[in-house]
Amino acid sequence: MCGIVGYVGSKDALPIVLAGLKRLEYRGYDSYGFCVLNGKPFLFKQIGKISENSDNFDHVKGNVAISHTRWATTGEVTKENAHPHSDCKEEIFVVHNGIVENYKELKNNLIGEGHVFKSETDTEVIAHLIEKYFSGNLEEAVKKALKEIRGTYGLAVISTGDPEKIVVARMSSPLIIGVGVDEFLVASDPSAIITHTRQIINLDDGEIAVLKKAGFSIFKEEKESQKQIETIDWDIEQAEKGGYDHFMLKEIMEEPNTIEDAIRGRLILEDGNVKLGGLFQVEEKLRGINNLLLIGCGTAHYACAVGEYMLEDYASIAGETDIGSEFRYRKPIVNKNTAAIFVSQSGETADTLAAMREMKEKGILTLGITNVVGSSQARETDAGVYTRSGPEIAVASTKAFIGQLATLAMLTVYLGRQREMSVVTGKRIVSELVNLPNLAREILGHREEIKNIAEKYKKYRDFWFIGRKYNYPVALEGALKLKEVSYVHAEGTAGGELKHGPLALIDENCPTIAICPSDSVYEKMIANIEEVKARKGKVIALATEGNEEIKNIADDVIYIPKTLEMLTPLLSAIPLHLFAYYMAAVLGRNIDKPKNLAKSVTVE
Ligand code: G6P
Repeated sequence: MCGIVGYVGSKDALPIVLAGLKRLEYRGYDSYGFCVLNGKPFLFKQIGKISENSDNFDHVKGNVAISHTRWATTGEVTKENAHPHSDCKEEIFVVHNGIVENYKELKNNLIGEGHVFKSETDTEVIAHLIEKYFSGNLEEAVKKALKEIRGTYGLAVISTGDPEKIVVARMSSPLIIGVGVDEFLVASDPSAIITHTRQIINLDDGEIAVLKKAGFSIFKEEKESQKQIETIDWDIEQAEKGGYDHFMLKEIMEEPNTIEDAIRGRLILEDGNVKLGGLFQVEEKLRGINNLLLIGCGTAHYACAVGEYMLEDYASIAGETDIGSEFRYRKPIVNKNTAAIFVSQSGETADTLAAMREMKEKGILTLGITNVVGSSQARETDAGVYTRSGPEIAVASTKAFIGQLATLAMLTVYLGRQREMSVVTGKRIVSELVNLPNLAREILGHREEIKNIAEKYKKYRDFWFIGRKYNYPVALEGALKLKEVSYVHAEGTAGGELKHGPLALIDENCPTIAICPSDSVYEKMIANIEEVKARKGKVIALATEGNEEIKNIADDVIYIPKTLEMLTPLLSAIPLHLFAYYMAAVLGRNIDKPKNLAKSVTVE
């Protein structure tokens, strides 16, 4: 989620790494920093954007540098929390992308051993662990430190005690090495180095590399790895999009990772429970809550609606969902057992914030589910959970929705286990959450089929989306996404409501997308599909793998893998996101920036 750029060679390192950092800025990072070695280290950190910096660094010379641009996950947006992080003696410097799951435990141990911490970040423990093991050889110390770390990392480390090198390591967080002549770069993203070199090596999980001016070596578990140098043939614009044509597609392709990032370190499999650090301080208050208001706008509102079903099914809590712009002008009936949860990717949506402030005014416990650390919502709610979905650039929200659903599922387990949910049920849900990213990857593997369906249906100008129960809000999300990015008229309805109006519009010119996984409302959905077919309407069905009978009724079928009913929205939304994307692509729309829309709506 953060950006890393490092350089070692014979040139001045700083201009090269700063140019790389600037190229990563399109993602909207919140702070940055760098460290250059030249005898003494030169460390600099700042909040904001590197492009807005007016300091002159011409005097900062040195051939080894690491730099970082941060998207906050653990710890607020402050200068202290910006990278690089250092050890007690300020001799070892680390930039890190990822999450150290066991950082609290490691930090307590290190404090016990006399280490002094300067930031709230998980990354700082890595610097102190390396310090603990350092005895002259940096890679040896990094190897020992990494043995103690649980979680994900893309790392670059330098040290004044072993100054001619950068040690880099990767575990589930992208990292590439740029290969030049007597110079090497490290970056989390090719776009950072593409103007400097197109020769790259992709590091694999578990690999540690040592970069020196004279050459590099890569190791995995003490054995040297033989790696291929690849040539990047993308242009800079494509590189920013990870090789995809649009950010929207890149972000949809990240949806499995979004689930992984949301659940990382938060599931307690053996207890069938979850731990959500951000709710710790309100844990006792939450025990007394029996009514939860769920408020959001746009896609976040639909996540709230799925959350309402989850909470009443599994946490015995009455949920009530509303959109921010309506809720803020209502007179909600609340009491001391009511809490309100606000869901927002940006944490800055004006209507959601206004609704939140209204609830605070009434003395109601306010919680937040937010992606952006340190956003207004995150700061002003009493407690909350970050979705950790990473920067979302496309205006239409896709991966953030999946992150919100994964977080709501964890919240449901948390509140459920405080109440009647058995350990067996809790275990079933958390173990399925672990499976979910791979199931999501299976769907993405079939994206060509969805592309073909979009091609087949591109001439239609009206679509209906139907679903029931958990998939009713997903039908609304599918319709919203389609109209938002392809400008094709689409509406979402609960399956049971078709006969109360929409059927009047169904004919051969208005196809219906029916979300009908094999769940508790499957038979009812089939009845709805038959209603559509009886009016000559075309049907694209989203069904569970193995359901062959559906092919006899629907015109086209998109399959999703089987999962728990409560978790199906995390899978069924993915093909709908893809469908909207491919429809917009085939119609030649401005996909990442649809007309008249904004990513974050900070006005009423
Ligand atoms: C805008 C975006 C939507 C998003 C909504 C809520 O309308 O275009 O994609 O769902 O705002 O944004 P939030 O940041 O509060 O989730």
